[in-house]
Amino acid sequence: MTKVHVFDHPLIQHKLTYIRDINTGTKEFRELVDEVATLMAYEITRDLPLKEVEVETPVCKATSKILAGKKLGIVPILRAGIGMVDGILNLIPAAKVGHIGLYRDPETLLPIEYYVKLPSDVSERDFILVDPMLATGGSAIEAVNSLKKRGAKNIKFMCLIAAPEGVKALTEAHPDVDVYIAALDEKLDEKGYIVPGLGDAGDRLFGTK
Ligand code: PRP
Ligand code: URA
Repeated sequence: MTKVHVFDHPLIQHKLTYIRDINTGTKEFRELVDEVATLMAYEITRDLPLKEVEVETPVCKATSKILAGKKLGIVPILRAGIGMVDGILNLIPAAKVGHIGLYRDPETLLPIEYYVKLPSDVSERDFILVDPMLATGGSAIEAVNSLKKRGAKNIKFMCLIAAPEGVKALTEAHPDVDVYIAALDEKLDEKGYIVPGLGDAGDRLFGTK
């Protein structure tokens, strides 16, 4: 059964407001997405396993904890997911990064896959699949299909803004994938854009509009 987590941390909500703002330019938009990705990564890594080690402090020997070394993979859905990768790597720099290229056909809104490159040991890694937007859910569902087809067993999906339609579709298609979002918006418009949303995430990140 899927869990849907909405990160309502004040810093995330504050930054998200400026991300939404039409007056926020490309440079600031990119920086804010990066910062929110780091804050979300802090929350999403809460359950990482630890192991005990001996450490010698200036005072005495002690037993303390470090990460147990679980293999992690970050997979952005191209293009817009790229904007969240560095922010996550700030906290988990040893994670490997795969890429899944998908775009939505503007007429049908169905995802078209054009690129997949993943770490070779897919079945041994836990994956965080990232994309700023979960709209109809088609892209996220297809990206999870793609990861699972190649052997991934443990996948979390992280996005900035989700529409209820996308959350429903993704959780029905992949009940084993937990979903982490910064905001759950109202609905989709007739063109499949999230309302109120932030517009086209890829265009705003890369200045292509
Ligand atoms: C956007 C966004 C998601 C997708 C979400 O990408 O980054 O990948 O739309 O929509 P969905 O939930 O309805 O599938 P887009 O297809 O615009 O491609 P881009 O990132 O290359 O701009
Ligand atoms: N993709 C985007 O970039 N924005 C939306 O609102 C929906 C899909």
